[in-house]
Amino acid sequence: MIEKAKKMVDFLSENHYLSEDEYLFLIKNRNGEITEYLRQKADKARREVYSNKIFIRGLIEISNICKNDCFYCGIRSSNKNCERYKLSEEEILTCCENGYKLGFRTFVLQGGEGVFPADEISDIVKKIKEKYPDCAVTLSLGEYQKSDYEKMKNAGADRYLLRHETVSKEHYEKLHPQNMSYDNRMRCLKDLKALNFQVGSGFLVGSPYQSPEIIAKEFKFIEEFSPEMCGIGPFIPQKDTPFKNEKSGTAEETIFYLSIIRLIKPNILLPATTALGTIKDGGREAGILAGANVLMPNLSPENTRKKYALYDNKLATGVESAEQVEKLKIQMQKIGYEIVCDRGDIKQVD
Ligand code: 5AD
Repeated sequence: MIEKAKKMVDFLSENHYLSEDEYLFLIKNRNGEITEYLRQKADKARREVYSNKIFIRGLIEISNICKNDCFYCGIRSSNKNCERYKLSEEEILTCCENGYKLGFRTFVLQGGEGVFPADEISDIVKKIKEKYPDCAVTLSLGEYQKSDYEKMKNAGADRYLLRHETVSKEHYEKLHPQNMSYDNRMRCLKDLKALNFQVGSGFLVGSPYQSPEIIAKEFKFIEEFSPEMCGIGPFIPQKDTPFKNEKSGTAEETIFYLSIIRLIKPNILLPATTALGTIKDGGREAGILAGANVLMPNLSPENTRKKYALYDNKLATGVESAEQVEKLKIQMQKIGYEIVCDRGDIKQVD
């Protein structure tokens, strides 16, 4: 079994694809030895493109108001225990100013859906780009019409993160209420690509009702859609949601999948997510060692961080906070990586 799995990993690292059945075989036979074998290949693949460089993004959680009611998410609209906020333009620009001084050259504006009209967010993007022309702006604000995304692009937004959450329509419908549409989410991803955003998709690891078969399909989706970025992290229950008593995803499976994704697309921008750091001490470092090359410390105003509670015990302090980026640099140096101060765009490879 081990030999067969290793051969598949070898093939994947040479050819950047496997069949769905082969992915399924790897997923089902994950163990310590295969994880380490895969990890070494993934680390090598990443080093060939990005050497030991790690990109950082300043994450600004611009609002926790959300019109959606996703069953897993703590800022879902029907959560009455969530104290809502929306940052003003001035507050957002102050976050950028702080971030710039700390060395960030990408700002990620993330928030709930249905809060910022396209014109409003486009104005904010324009102001950020005028003040910081050397910085990239990433938006992560959910689903819009294509014409709205176009406004944001024209305003200067460089990237857009929109996790599809699961590649299976049937599974999607078990994680979301009826008024949310898998097809529309996929339509958004395609529109964003067509508009030349650097696009990030991604899925929850270990969400309720997820099967190994679905995860195998996730990898085929990444092969085919070829996103510039891919955000994956363990599902972690949040106490005010319908999934409060469900099991978390694990760091081990997340790390294994990070390595597979790195081998599918050696130049992909792959974050070691906050959720991974939350579920396990040292989770983020383990993610980096397994092929991730992006970290997204929190640059939100201190008093709103606790309110952006997507899941329980979400880290927002220590090296998770942007203010402590110097500590983060040391932490990364200790494991052999170097945080760099630039936009950190995807490197095009032939
Ligand atoms: N556990 C882990 N990740 C979550 N997200 C939302 N709720 C949870 C949860 N309970 C993730 C979603 C979303 C991203 C911003 O946060 O994948 O796309």
